[in-house]
Amino acid sequence: MKELVRKNIFKISPYVGGKPIEETKRQFGLKEVIKLASNENPLGASPKAVEAIRKASYGINRYPDSQSFYLKKKLAKFLNVNSSNLVLGNGSDELIDIVIKTFVEDDENIVTSEATFLEYEIIASVYGRKLTKVPLRYFKYDLESMKKRIDKKTKLVFIANPNNPTGTYVTKFELRDFMNALPPNVLLVIDEAYDAFIDVDDYPDMLDSFRNKNVIILKTFSKSYGLAGLRIGYAVLDDGLAGLMERVRQPFNINSLAQAGAQAALDDKEFLRKTRKIVLEGKDYLYDNLKKLGLAYVPSITNFILVDVGQDGVEIFNKMLRSGVIVRDMKQYGLKNFIRVTIGTKKENERFIKVLRKILK
Ligand SMILES: Cc1ncc(COP(=O)(O)O)c(C=O)c1O
Repeated sequence: MKELVRKNIFKISPYVGGKPIEETKRQFGLKEVIKLASNENPLGASPKAVEAIRKASYGINRYPDSQSFYLKKKLAKFLNVNSSNLVLGNGSDELIDIVIKTFVEDDENIVTSEATFLEYEIIASVYGRKLTKVPLRYFKYDLESMKKRIDKKTKLVFIANPNNPTGTYVTKFELRDFMNALPPNVLLVIDEAYDAFIDVDDYPDMLDSFRNKNVIILKTFSKSYGLAGLRIGYAVLDDGLAGLMERVRQPFNINSLAQAGAQAALDDKEFLRKTRKIVLEGKDYLYDNLKKLGLAYVPSITNFILVDVGQDGVEIFNKMLRSGVIVRDMKQYGLKNFIRVTIGTKKENERFIKVLRKILK
């Protein structure tokens, strides 16, 4: 069997996602299970998007528009860029794949951080590209050390800003210095999956910088618009580079329901407002109650919190699972004594704290 497969495929550790609710119910014979494991939207999906998807479902006998003309047009207006600056992906996951395929030669390498979004490493491994992971510093990307790891063969740098799973971010000042130091032949990918939840003033506005620098911004409808199951994300970048990525992507990578749903979601300002409110309120509640439990956590500008449980996080994860609360252990990220919890509804957050309290006793 080994002879049939490319060698580097054996080195890949499969991506382990948040455990599904139904599977957990079946496995432990539970009636009520809550999932706070995949940084999804606690309010569900944007109702406007759901309605548009329902309507669009009558047309799924046809192939989707391979150019996603109307979605790109709307998105371009929303972002104040041109349609030609956009590449759409089947989730931002797919854009990470397309970026690596389009830009990184066999003998070139990629630089990112340890304890960051796992897909950078997994996809790099699929294509046999070398990826250097620089240790975090105080739970943040260590940009100074990353600079030093960039060599003549570095083509791409991935920065998740804010970072998953730490919830930390690099400031506009830190990023500006980093960008100024980047050699001109290096592309910087800033992955902003959680930008809708930020509550700080010094977060960089990348839409100002993508035109004159080799910067690719990634965004997604999965989190703030509640459309994780629809699979739609986008890249904003120089139009010349975007045109090249367009050559690489599959022609029908954005299905017709995703095109309709994402367009409608952009109009759903009320849903975004409610989402932000519930996340920010939930964050305060969780901070307070984690403190009461004597647990340290990493301050987050996202919809999830990295919690130091002071003991094996996998054990805590397993115990919580049996009590019907799905969180995420951090073993894959090398953070042994931590769990990551997604901020849920008030009720979900209360249940999380109640179960955690019981387990820690
Ligand atoms: C930092 C980061 N980037 C990208 C993604 C992928 O998002 P999408 O659902 O758009 O593929 C995630 C999802 O968890 C993420 O945390």
